[in-house]
Amino acid sequence: MTDKHQYFSESSVLYLTARSVSIAVITGVLQNKGSLSTQLTKHASRVHSEHQAKLKEICFGVCRWYPKLNSIALSMLQQPFEEEDYDLYAALLIGLYQIDYMDTPDHAAVNEAVEASKELNKNWAGKLINAVLRRYLREKDAIIAAIDSMPSVEYVHPKWFMKRLKKHWPDNLDAIVDANNSHPPMCLRVNERHVSRETAIELLLSEDIDTEKGLFSSSSLYLKKPVRVNQLPHFELGYFSVQDESAQLAAFILDLKEGEKVLDACAAPGGKTGHLLERANLDVTALELEPWRLDKIHENLDRLQLSAKVICADASDTDSWWDGQSFDKILLDAPCSATGVIRRNPDIKINRKPKEVEELTHTQKNILHAVWKTLAPGGQLLYATCSILEEENALQIARFLETHDDAIEKALDLPEECGVKVQHGRQLLPQKQGHDGFYYCLLEKIAQSR
Ligand SMILES: C[S@@+](CC[C@H](N)C(=O)[O-])C[C@H]1O[C@@H](n2cnc3c(N)ncnc32)[C@H](O)[C@@H]1O
Repeated sequence: MTDKHQYFSESSVLYLTARSVSIAVITGVLQNKGSLSTQLTKHASRVHSEHQAKLKEICFGVCRWYPKLNSIALSMLQQPFEEEDYDLYAALLIGLYQIDYMDTPDHAAVNEAVEASKELNKNWAGKLINAVLRRYLREKDAIIAAIDSMPSVEYVHPKWFMKRLKKHWPDNLDAIVDANNSHPPMCLRVNERHVSRETAIELLLSEDIDTEKGLFSSSSLYLKKPVRVNQLPHFELGYFSVQDESAQLAAFILDLKEGEKVLDACAAPGGKTGHLLERANLDVTALELEPWRLDKIHENLDRLQLSAKVICADASDTDSWWDGQSFDKILLDAPCSATGVIRRNPDIKINRKPKEVEELTHTQKNILHAVWKTLAPGGQLLYATCSILEEENALQIARFLETHDDAIEKALDLPEECGVKVQHGRQLLPQKQGHDGFYYCLLEKIAQSR
């Protein structure tokens, strides 16, 4: 393989280098044209399989360290780049990332960024990029010292988020930041319909895949080293799914009984839908608002050889999808700020804004109020988010309980040491080498209004 910008593979497919494609991915993220994973899905096929790992490393790395890289760049630029030149800015940020976090030789990092301006037909910017990166190489310590009290540099998180962390989780702040800035572990869910966790450990070991049991989900296994899913034995037969340990707890908390009618109100990509059905034979309705995300639910269920009624609908508009038959159990895994899974979605550091959190809080409230009507008396609803912000979690539930006298909170069947007990429910905070940040609260509909 050459390290030029483009080359032909044996099959005469024109591939680009990981660095060239990472510019396109980061530009898309900077322009807020979709999440990092959406941008990667869109562009990754232009990179040869041999260089996919490098593409991911650059893209995830730049997003993970963006608050700091951005502050460094802005401290040296006379004015920020215009949106139409975010591709150049992406090239500059990648250059800074290579200098600070990759083993790319410094001169190569500078040259590649300058070359990128030519590839982008913006030769005029080559001099500027060269000057900025060379200045950084010369004056790094002084440049960092001048900005290192900024939250973006000290914690590598946006200022608005650090303000909230300081308010909600002052004692856990350093641990949360540390976990968010780390690589997430790869966690599997063992499909206990096919294989026990003990047997799964042996099966994986026979393929040289070493694992460690999760402490809280009895179906979880952490991989000592991540692998591609097609390397997992019998993955295509549904023996394993990739799912974080904290997300696996939903299906255990719900205490499912054979034959129950269950609503999975916000289902895509269907991770938890599959787990619910692995736990018991159920009549599951899986709702999802976004039509383009439905295929993923079907794909997951097909692989697990399980089935559900999958409906594309807005869960908060019950008239559009509900036939009036009440559900015994509801899982509401609500759309949220995803602030508990920043390490898996580091572009949150770039694009998530406080206004959006406000809107999401409103959406969660609407869905919760609407689906509550579809729950049978005596039935249970599990409210879940992958957020660590109280307005989406305990405060959301507090407001709900104030306005619903037919709702009571039930204790969660989780070990004491799993997460933190909050005003309502349990808050799991992201653990370095461990589970993601998640929130759960279990509500029951009492038969008679008080
Ligand atoms: C946190 S994700 C769900 C993850 C899923 N439960 C799993 O475990 O794979 C939230 C999902 O809710 C969907 N959503 C957002 N608003 C919705 C609405 N009003 N009705 C139904 N689904 C909605 C989003 O498109 C997204 O796919």
